[in-house]
Amino acid sequence: MNAPLSSPAASQVDSAAGYYRYHVFFCLNERPNGEDCCALHGAKAGFDYCKRAVQAAGLAGPGQVRVNKAGCLDRCSAAPVLVVYPEGVWYTFVDESDIDEIIESHLKNGQIVERLLIPPHMGR
Ligand code: FES
Repeated sequence: MNAPLSSPAASQVDSAAGYYRYHVFFCLNERPNGEDCCALHGAKAGFDYCKRAVQAAGLAGPGQVRVNKAGCLDRCSAAPVLVVYPEGVWYTFVDESDIDEIIESHLKNGQIVERLLIPPHMGR
């Protein structure tokens, strides 16, 4: 028999596991006057594609993957930028095949995609 959801044991398990296995944030920041930002580097198209692909792969939802919009993540020089938690792994991407590789390698198999990592020195 399952423990009731309100039991102390159940809530300890839930908080230890986290609500999502992976939480992916895409910077969609757009600056006025044509100033450089992720929005000028295909961020929205990448975000939309990733949302659809994660859903199509059956990975979306509690206990799995959540893909969210974010404002400026202050690493603009690497635009477009996304970050995957809980590890805090920062990626950039060029096209849909890069997003596919992040989904397949990182979100499905827990393997970092080294070639898309943002170098540690790249900030704003
Ligand atoms: S505009 Fe995207 S990280 Fe700053």
